[in-house]
Amino acid sequence: MQLSHLGLLVLSLVASIGAKSTFTPARPPALPLAVKSPYLSTWQSAGSDGGNGGYLAGEWPTFWANQVTGWCGLIRVDGKAYTWMGLPGSTTVDQTAFEYTSTKSIFTMSVGGLVEMNITFMSPITPDDFKRQSLVFSYLNVEVSSLDGKDHNVQVYADISAEWVSGDRGTTAQWDYGTTDGVAYHKVYRQTQLAFSEINQQAEWGYWYWATDAAKGMTHQSGQDTVVRAQFSSNGTLTNGADTNYRAINNKWPVFGFSSNLGTVNSAPVSTLFSLGLTQDEAIQYEGSSAYAPVPSLWKSYFDTALDAVTFFHKDFTESNKLSSSFDSQVATDSIAVAGQDYLTLTSLSARQAFGATQLCGTEDKIYLFLKEISSDGNMNTVDVIFPAYPIFLYSNPEFLKLLLDPLYENQEAGNYPQSYAMHDLGSNYPNATGHNDGNDEAMPLEECGNMVIMTLAYAQETGDTAYLSAHYTILKKWTSYLVDEALYPANQISTDDFAGSLANQTNLALKGMIGIQAMAVIANATGHTADAADYSSIARDYITKWQGLGINTKASPPHTTLSYGNDSSHGLLYNLFADAQLGLNLVPQSVYQMQSTFYPTVANEYGVPLDTRHTYTKGDWECFTAAVASADTRNMFIKRLATWVNETPTNRALTDLYDTNTGNYPQNTFVARPVVGGSFAPLLVAS
Ligand SMILES: *[C@@H]1O[C@H](CO)[C@@H](O)[C@H](O)[C@H]1NC(C)=O
Ligand SMILES: *[C@@H]1O[C@H](CO)[C@@H](O)[C@H](O)[C@H]1NC(C)=O
Ligand SMILES: *[C@@H]1O[C@H](CO)[C@@H](O)[C@H](O)[C@H]1NC(C)=O
Ligand SMILES: *[C@@H]1O[C@H](CO)[C@@H](O)[C@H](O)[C@H]1NC(C)=O
Ligand SMILES: *[C@@H]1O[C@H](CO)[C@@H](O)[C@H](O)[C@H]1NC(C)=O
Ligand SMILES: *[C@@H]1O[C@H](CO)[C@@H](O)[C@H](O)[C@H]1NC(C)=O
Repeated sequence: MQLSHLGLLVLSLVASIGAKSTFTPARPPALPLAVKSPYLSTWQSAGSDGGNGGYLAGEWPTFWANQVTGWCGLIRVDGKAYTWMGLPGSTTVDQTAFEYTSTKSIFTMSVGGLVEMNITFMSPITPDDFKRQSLVFSYLNVEVSSLDGKDHNVQVYADISAEWVSGDRGTTAQWDYGTTDGVAYHKVYRQTQLAFSEINQQAEWGYWYWATDAAKGMTHQSGQDTVVRAQFSSNGTLTNGADTNYRAINNKWPVFGFSSNLGTVNSAPVSTLFSLGLTQDEAIQYEGSSAYAPVPSLWKSYFDTALDAVTFFHKDFTESNKLSSSFDSQVATDSIAVAGQDYLTLTSLSARQAFGATQLCGTEDKIYLFLKEISSDGNMNTVDVIFPAYPIFLYSNPEFLKLLLDPLYENQEAGNYPQSYAMHDLGSNYPNATGHNDGNDEAMPLEECGNMVIMTLAYAQETGDTAYLSAHYTILKKWTSYLVDEALYPANQISTDDFAGSLANQTNLALKGMIGIQAMAVIANATGHTADAADYSSIARDYITKWQGLGINTKASPPHTTLSYGNDSSHGLLYNLFADAQLGLNLVPQSVYQMQSTFYPTVANEYGVPLDTRHTYTKGDWECFTAAVASADTRNMFIKRLATWVNETPTNRALTDLYDTNTGNYPQNTFVARPVVGGSFAPLLVAS
């Protein structure tokens, strides 16, 4: 924290030269550490644009928005202290391996050749268990064993700073220490709570808990960073003392440490477990069908108090680890079966990031899943952000998709949105789901009408929940009327790729509208509206025939769809085709699928296929949608280039979905940590 940038650079270099780590299955631009919600999102910067190459020691972990969230790990072996996490200044351990799965990041360290450490960061994903999924908590488990066959005297230390509790480093933090039910905890929070507020994207309300086992040999201490860490380094124990001079986060940086005395360690691994997370009684403000009101965090339905939630989580490690490992293996088995290890490199890196933009809220009889459009603008439940992410939700538990759509339906069906088309998002700033009563949201009319119809059918097909279709038939029909009016010749408007600007007659956007109309025909059929079904189906088929005349350059070699009607020098990823296949509509002829499959490899750059002819950048999520409906060879071409890019990109922050296909770097927009990476699960949804 206080070291100069020069010091940071020098120590980073030492760390990366002194140790050579392997990275399995890849070295991501930033390594996920604790990634569980929009406010529990801490990473280790790795890429060459500012990261240290992927080493846990020698650089502070950062919040997704890039500010340091102080998290420090020390180990004392036979009286000598080493750093295993962060940058407090002492000699660093040698990192020998890093590995990630869908829920875990695992580091292996050699401490002076004397002892080995396995350090596991686990952010659980339990799709069928909402009680566990609702907890905004993450684990840090440290295992130690002798490496040289000799016995060693070992103590393990870890602390957090107050940087977790506010995005304003000058604000006053307060803290407390206690034990309950065998669990010791530091409780740290913003002294003046600012409900539903953010500063630099961090939450300004709620209580952070940093916990460990209240076991024999555990000592604790709060106080100035240098003081507490020096106490451990020189003595191996903490004072059990409390610094009650509550002060600004950056005033003699208060930290909250635990030390665990492992005593004599031989070749049998011994472990120390830490838990870290945020409790907010009320998480969201929401305008649904009734007046604007606060919505509780869902964990409140399962636990009487925050401390009950903390102790449950901490003691649940074994079971939680089992459930997370089972999710890891499910993703691994399915991904490898569809497209091999390169594909698993993408899906397993995306899982925590996608779920990490969400929080389960509400009560057991009325659950919501709220989602933050992280980094691009902070909107809530953005429809065209849910759409690229929907594959991971549909894959892991289709109920999640319904819980994301429900609040959008409630708000609009109550008449809270005046436009004839579907709303873009539920509110301009997470956590305020205030809707858009003035109708002045970022208008993407065709895009969002198509998305709502498509995703609603996707959920219903997966679950057989036809009642959901009937319940929302009226508004779905209103949105489909919009598609019928506008889809054939799309007006000059933006699509989800708003950063690329607006354009008339976008071939891919028109296709989404037509697929939406056909999806509505299926919805109408399923709900007994047979006349509507016939009507929509004939419109969709008529449009798709015309579309082939308007949006395909048949003279090109090989032929391909254009970016916009009639512009023969243009092309783009036809990613909306995915929905035709995923919903089994058979609206678009197979010849179009084959034509595009043949075309993409002819315009591929080193790291992928450009989004369209306006720029050399692309979107990883849309590449996965496109790959999902391509031939096996073309699909594997997309996946191979994406996986190579993940390994080689100079970007150093939580995985971006927008990157240049030649340099691998960011284009003008720095998108990071966005849930749209859940789109990497698209190929899993169409594999037979
Ligand atoms: C670390 O993990 C490896 C692989 O699972 C295992 O062989 C080794 O014993 C572990 N070491 C410690 C210190 O837990
Ligand atoms: C949410 O709304 C509250 C007022 O109810 C406001 O104080 C707060 O700043 C808003 N939060 C964000 C992130 O805009
Ligand atoms: C150092 O640790 C020992 C136990 O290992 C303890 O008795 C002693 O009080 C500690 N000294 C200080 C200054 O904390
Ligand atoms: C869209 O394409 C049609 C058919 O080529 C053309 O008549 C119309 O002018 C185009 N619309 C715009 C806004 O350019
Ligand atoms: C609607 O159902 C009828 C009878 O099952 C079927 O023939 C028709 O193809 C269906 N239409 C659509 C659009 O699914
Ligand atoms: C056709 O597309 C190309 C590439 O995107 C673009 O540079 C050009 O301006 C477009 N032409 C027209 C007439 O819109």
